[in-house]
Amino acid sequence: MNKELVIVLDFGGQYNQLIARRVRECSVYCEVHPYTLKLDEIKAMNPKGIIFTGGPNSVYGEEAPRYDKRIFDLGIPIFGICYGSQLMAYTLGGSVESAPVSEYGKAEVTVDQSSLLFDGVSEKTICWMSHTDYISKAPAGFRVCATTPVCPVAAMELPEKNLYATQFHPEVMHTQDGLKMLSNFVTHVCGCRGDWKMSSFVEDTISSIRQKVGKGNVLCALSGGVDSSVAAVLMSKAIGKQLTCVFVDHGLLRKNEGDEVEAVFGPDGPYDLNFIRVNCQQRFYDKLAGVTEPEQKRKIIGEEFIRVFEEESRKIGAVDFLVQGTIYPDVIESGLGKSAVIKSHHNVGGLPDCVDFREIIEPLRLLFKDEVRKAGRELGIPEYLVSRQPFPGPGLGIRIVGEVTADKVRIVQDADAIYREEIARAGITGLGQYFAALTNMRSVGVMGDERTYDYAVALRAVNTTDFMTAECSEIPFEVLQRVMNRVINEVKGVNRVVYDLTSKPPGTIEFE
Ligand code: XMP
Repeated sequence: MNKELVIVLDFGGQYNQLIARRVRECSVYCEVHPYTLKLDEIKAMNPKGIIFTGGPNSVYGEEAPRYDKRIFDLGIPIFGICYGSQLMAYTLGGSVESAPVSEYGKAEVTVDQSSLLFDGVSEKTICWMSHTDYISKAPAGFRVCATTPVCPVAAMELPEKNLYATQFHPEVMHTQDGLKMLSNFVTHVCGCRGDWKMSSFVEDTISSIRQKVGKGNVLCALSGGVDSSVAAVLMSKAIGKQLTCVFVDHGLLRKNEGDEVEAVFGPDGPYDLNFIRVNCQQRFYDKLAGVTEPEQKRKIIGEEFIRVFEEESRKIGAVDFLVQGTIYPDVIESGLGKSAVIKSHHNVGGLPDCVDFREIIEPLRLLFKDEVRKAGRELGIPEYLVSRQPFPGPGLGIRIVGEVTADKVRIVQDADAIYREEIARAGITGLGQYFAALTNMRSVGVMGDERTYDYAVALRAVNTTDFMTAECSEIPFEVLQRVMNRVINEVKGVNRVVYDLTSKPPGTIEFE
């Protein structure tokens, strides 16, 4: 297959996967590789272009990651960004120095619009700078094609050899025309057609899974969340009944969620796979009885989950591969070319230690969440599953403040279902995450002529892009009132509904 590929060579910057993702947005397939990737390996991959990332080092530092100078003679277009630009300058005989004024943040850059890189970019454009060193003199033959008042070489080029470099970061959103610049590089400089689509990713992944798995058996812990669902469907399309999905219903799922997952992945669903649903709600409630400390609850739920999974896998017998729905944000890259360290997947923490298998398959590890959703749609997974909001592994266990009981689970499930129904009915979209939680506060109320002494449900809705910070969403008051009315009338055991205004920080999104 004649697939266009652009390689991002990782020199330890923070935005490496973002660069890859932006290139994919230009419909060109892109992968990140450590800078230790050998010249021969690069040649064998036959990329249309190479991008050097930023990084924390100074090119003069002893530990500084460098690259074989011969890469510049391969005839493959290269784009250096930040540290990558300095590395290009340094390797080809320019000068890099500690800048008299380090630039951090948005800067107005004046660009030479005749450069292919800046085609269609306005002459004065806002770019994101983050550097202490800078190129003080471009290598012989290079032309300076952008400057700022304090940065003499904000961009440079050697068009005859298809070499380009910017001191600023085109991949971050703060660079106004950054996507345009990356698109100019991949189309005008690398000559890519830009015909890569998510469907190609899906097709390629399916064929490489088939190759890798052969006749082996594969086990997948399915949570019903977006990532593990997309991973499971991808695997089932590739290897059908060689795949067994184990879905643990720990009794801490949202209302009807267990049945919804079973409807899609179970024997009556559209997919060719073995599906095992383990109903062990009571087992989890028993373990959680009397436990109020949040971290202890998390630990118990995580451990019990593993025990159940272990028991089921023992029944299945020998497993060759284990599938994890790890996506890029779950992957912590060391950045400096050492192999990536994987955070134990949130939802199935610790699994790899307890199941006897040969290898882990992580078909989504290069994708961002919205790309995973796109892949899911491509695979024909129902929209309500694909667009599902994130749900924590410990489930409602951390949305019930204090002790978890079956009755409290019922309360929070019912209140949450009403809340979600009303949000949908009001046509509110674009919320980062929203849910009902059950506080451990009981207070006095009056219903009819009776005194009540019941629980308070808290409604939470936040806007967030990265889940590291979040702001309370402004849900219309009449919607909140409708939810309050319904919860109090329809959910036994609740006599008060409050709306949580806290942002993160200082709060967290979940209550525990
Ligand atoms: P916090 O509450 O830390 O949540 O602001 C940030 C995001 O992470 C999710 N979350 C979890 N996910 N296991 C998970 O799989 C957990 O223990 C866990 N705790 C929080 C939370 O839903 C939000 O999206």
